[in-house]
Amino acid sequence: MNVLITGGSGFIGSHLVDVLIERGHKVSIYDIEAPRFGQDAEYIRGDVRDLQKLISTLKKFDAVYHLAAEANVNRFFDAPIYSNEITSGSTANVLEAARVCPNVRRVLLASTEWIYGTSIDTSEITEETIYAQNPDHLYTSSKIAAELFCKNYKTLYGVNFTIMRYGIPFGERAREATVTPIFINKIVRGEDITIHGDGSQTRQFIYVRDLAEGNTACLDPKAENEVFNINGREIIKVIDIVRTLEEIIGKKAKVTFIEDRKGNYKGRFISSLKAERLLGWKPNFTYREAMEKYVKKLVSGSK
Ligand SMILES: NC(=O)c1ccc[n+]([C@@H]2O[C@H](COP(=O)([O-])OP(=O)(O)OC[C@H]3O[C@@H](n4cnc5c(N)ncnc54)[C@H](O)[C@@H]3O)[C@@H](O)[C@H]2O)c1
Repeated sequence: MNVLITGGSGFIGSHLVDVLIERGHKVSIYDIEAPRFGQDAEYIRGDVRDLQKLISTLKKFDAVYHLAAEANVNRFFDAPIYSNEITSGSTANVLEAARVCPNVRRVLLASTEWIYGTSIDTSEITEETIYAQNPDHLYTSSKIAAELFCKNYKTLYGVNFTIMRYGIPFGERAREATVTPIFINKIVRGEDITIHGDGSQTRQFIYVRDLAEGNTACLDPKAENEVFNINGREIIKVIDIVRTLEEIIGKKAKVTFIEDRKGNYKGRFISSLKAERLLGWKPNFTYREAMEKYVKKLVSGSK
């Protein structure tokens, strides 16, 4: 298939480029930033706010993965208008371009587990769980809007979609300012790690390579007009991230526990069993295995 990836130069997008190429697809990247990993993919410099450019670009594609967005929630807080434009506004643009270009058989949206909110009183979350009713972050509201635009464009204009709700990704090419690389670098440099609360709060992580495989599985026709959680299966305590890294790196971490953050949610379980049932996808690597691969590459400086 001829596949376009908006945001294909980014962290997750670049891994998706790798996996789609390995599966024999012809891949193009649409991004304001040039790709950095030397992949055999066409690069189209373009802004997802530019509807005309999206329309002229989409004329030759069978499917478009829409990953471009403001993925850094802190920047969303600092620049809400621009961030919303490139997140939900850009999703409307991609859907509109797909409406004008009937050769595009599907728009696959990168969404997030944030759409479930933080105050959910359910131990297991599935795709049937309702959106956060009172989102406490602009990023959450913008991603919910993006998802709703997909559903509207299907109902009103027949544009097919797939919504992929990612868990917390980690792995090669991640931004340095995210939890896993911060912890790794601090342990290696012998610096203090600060944990809010007692470290017993839990998270679900997904290795970025597994996430990219999950995205690729969503090209299956069975994923048309469906929503999927794409997440890891292990519940990881924040303190266990440190303990796992200590073992892999072979060095004791210096940890300081401070007062818990207000609203620091204790964790819940997000099920990705629908993706396994319908698409045959599940993560290939355990948390520990993935972390070993990642640390090895990070410490050796390879991408
Ligand atoms: N990283 C996470 O923790 C996480 C978790 C859940 C969901 N997501 C979602 O996954 C997607 C990819 O996230 P990521 O972590 O790879 O982010 P990233 O910031 O690494 O990549 C985003 C890419 O979008 C491009 N981009 C930004 N503005 C653009 C514009 N105006 N026009 C064209 N391209 C533009 C950037 O240049 C970048 O290459 C996003 O939609 C994000 O919301 C990310």
